[in-house]
Amino acid sequence: MALISDMSEARSQFPILERILPNGKKLIYLDNAATSQKPSSVIKAMNEYYTGYNSNVHRAVHTLSGEATEAFELARQSVANWFGLPSGGMVLFTSGTTDALNLCALGWGKVNLNSGDAIVLTEMEHHSNIVPWQMLAKEKNLELRWVDVNPETYELDLDDYISKIKGAKLACIIHTSNVLGTRNPVENLVKLAHESGAKIILDCAQAAAHEKLDMEKINADFLAVTSHKMCGPTGIGALLISPGIFEEMEPVVGGGDMITEVFKEYSIYQENEHRFEAGTPRIAEAIGWSAAINWMRKLDMDAAHKHTLKLAKNAADGLRKIPGIKIYGDHSKDDVSGVVSFLHESLHAEDIARMLDSMGIAVRTGHHCAQPLMRRLDVTATNRASFYFYNTLEESNAFVDALKTIVERFA
Ligand code: ALA
Repeated sequence: MALISDMSEARSQFPILERILPNGKKLIYLDNAATSQKPSSVIKAMNEYYTGYNSNVHRAVHTLSGEATEAFELARQSVANWFGLPSGGMVLFTSGTTDALNLCALGWGKVNLNSGDAIVLTEMEHHSNIVPWQMLAKEKNLELRWVDVNPETYELDLDDYISKIKGAKLACIIHTSNVLGTRNPVENLVKLAHESGAKIILDCAQAAAHEKLDMEKINADFLAVTSHKMCGPTGIGALLISPGIFEEMEPVVGGGDMITEVFKEYSIYQENEHRFEAGTPRIAEAIGWSAAINWMRKLDMDAAHKHTLKLAKNAADGLRKIPGIKIYGDHSKDDVSGVVSFLHESLHAEDIARMLDSMGIAVRTGHHCAQPLMRRLDVTATNRASFYFYNTLEESNAFVDALKTIVERFA
């Protein structure tokens, strides 16, 4: 199969990118770290489910239910294959990365961590990989240890990690920062965690959009992933678990489909993934995610990431030349994602975002759900442009020019 390595060909499959905004401006979508756009094949697959075989799964013997069940379980297989799940590992569907991290905290952490045990987090974490652990720590009297981020290099302090992981039971680490674009040395962090007897979960929300993750190679105990940043629909993600972990977990949500038998006094739970998926699952979303994975299979991921980085570096270089702009992140590295976080010394971040919006350019502004990192960087918010493979050099240049105009006029 010939891979798509021409990014204008890839772009042509995303209808929304032709959108004209109400003010007549052509959309320049640079908020891909918040959510990516979806190719026609994903929209079509979900539409086909709803128009052709919408039905509940695992429950009925009729044709539609059989078709929906087959598509849903094929989607699980597709997720397992794409992420290189080792044999014996499992895909537990969730509503997204946040839900996956919470499932890990409640389904594994609550059962296996005890008073006094330590969990290692980093200052780079998204709130979704902080708050569930704080809640669990409060309930179970756990210690939370924080690994420092160097505010000059935008990297984790590895020595600090090495000292904090000693004697800890679990490390909860963001693979790639949604603010800085930094890709953490996850392979080494996993090795160090395992050497000191800790388990490790990686928040791969951003990473999965930019690199082909291989769970067997990464060797982490858990990966938390989501569909909507990798061209799939919102509303679905997964907790991927390594072999041997399933047996250490307890279900968190009770209800239909997660049991084999229910008596007045007690229930017997399913022995497979359904044990963690009570109620009607996200059927259309799973089918859409599977279609997104099929689409990504056709994409030359290396070429796509090179292109994304070229656009991010071009924007970062252009922004650096604008007086008063500071960039947060090191774009000289080749493994960073496509985000460019920045601030102007006197213009308010939200004002910049609104002015960019009036010029058709969508960026995100705020603390990016990473307030401990914001404090470490000594800011309350940043503007963030996030590029993806379907963006163009013209868009990257237009963004730089727009910012230049804003600063010239208003600063
Ligand atoms: N976590 C997403 C972001 O960084 C929503 O924008």
